[in-house]
Amino acid sequence: MNALDLHVHRWEPATGADAPTLLLLHGTGGDENDLMPLARLVSPKAAVLSVRGNVTEQGMPRFFRRLSEGVFDLEDLRQRTAELGEFLDAAARRYGFSADRLYALGFSNGANIAASLLLSQPSALAGGVLIRAMVPFEPDISPDLHGRSVLLSEGRTDPLIPAAHAERLAAILQAAGASVELVWQPGGHALAQGDITAASRWLSERASPAR
Ligand code: MLT
Repeated sequence: MNALDLHVHRWEPATGADAPTLLLLHGTGGDENDLMPLARLVSPKAAVLSVRGNVTEQGMPRFFRRLSEGVFDLEDLRQRTAELGEFLDAAARRYGFSADRLYALGFSNGANIAASLLLSQPSALAGGVLIRAMVPFEPDISPDLHGRSVLLSEGRTDPLIPAAHAERLAAILQAAGASVELVWQPGGHALAQGDITAASRWLSERASPAR
């Protein structure tokens, strides 16, 4: 089997020189079409690789299984993260992008698998915008995330993600050497205008290869 078939996905090439590639990772119940409008808002010229999660929960696509809300099936998470990494290698070859210009743009469950990918396969991504992310797992050995950049955008009143969990994820990534910015939105778990503003600003700072 071709590893490119591991995920249903959409690919749109960049329309500007120096533009990064965005890896779109949807939330529970979304699909590869969901975050396309968001990607166009936050980085209009970027190449876009948008991926559908391979797990379904009561018909809703996700990137890995969970035992209950916020409690993850860690063995499934490990396998699905490895599968996504394998897919990305094949996609990079097929579509001609480089992992060192590949930024995840993930929401909720998609942000969680992006965090899992960073922690378990640091060379797979240059970093990313993780919106409403939580700690996917506590790594036994800290990975080497030097040179990786992460924007965490979290909700102050998010009923699913206590502030301490978001802060713990920031601390894990930072301890591993990543450059981390944690921003707080005034609302809960839903995507908000502040996420879009923060993501646009953060991605535009990374539009030039000089950065
Ligand atoms: C998850 O399962 O990844 C988180 O609870 C977020 C969600 O998908 O609701």
